[in-house]
Amino acid sequence: MIVNVHDKKFETYISDAKIEEAVTRISNQIDQDYAGKRPLFLVVLNGSFLFAADLFRKLHVEAEICFIKLASYQGMKSSGKVTTAIGLDNPVKDRDVILVEDIIDTGKTLFEFIPELKERQPASLRIASLLVKPDALKYDVKADYIGFSVPNDFLIGYGLDYDGLGRNFGEILKLMP
Ligand code: IMP
Ligand code: MG
Repeated sequence: MIVNVHDKKFETYISDAKIEEAVTRISNQIDQDYAGKRPLFLVVLNGSFLFAADLFRKLHVEAEICFIKLASYQGMKSSGKVTTAIGLDNPVKDRDVILVEDIIDTGKTLFEFIPELKERQPASLRIASLLVKPDALKYDVKADYIGFSVPNDFLIGYGLDYDGLGRNFGEILKLMP
C-alpha cells in the first residue's frame, strides 16, 4: 500500500505476514534459550510497543515485562550526556534481562543506556531488535535477536513513527523517493 503521512509518501516494505514470521522465529528462539529461566523484558518506549506485545504473547517461557523510556539530558559528569530510564521499577539485579528495541539505527541510544543497565548487575543481558540498520551503525551495539536487517531508509509502521504518526500501520513502510 501507499500512504501519505504528514508531507511524505510511504510504500509497503515489510508485510504483516513477514513481520509475524520474524516475531514467531524470535519468540521460539527465546523460548529455547531461556528454558527454565524467567527473563525480564525491558521494552524501550515508544516505538517498541507493538513488537514487544506480539513477541510477549507468543512466548511460552515464564517471563516478566517492564516498559521504560530513555531520557537523555546534560548531566554533571564531564562526559556530558547521561541516559536515564524512566519507569525502571523492577529490580534488575541477578535477572536475565532482554532489552526490546524497535530499531537500532546509529546504536547511540543503547550504547549510552547499556552501561547504566550493567551497573545494576543483571545476571545476563541480551538485546532483541525488530530492525537493525547495519549501514547506519556508529556505536558498538550488537543485537542478539534480530527481525530484519534493513538498508539505510526511513521506515514507519508497526510502532515506528514519522513525527508522531504512522505507528498504527500493521506493516512496515519506507519513504518513497
Ligand atoms: P539510534 O540511537 O540511532 O540507534 O536510534 C534509535 C531510535 O531512533 C529508534 O528507537 C527510533 O525511535 C529512531 N529511529 C531510527 N531509525 C528510524 C526509522 O527509520 N524510522 C523511525 N524511527 C527511527
Ligand atoms: Mg525507539
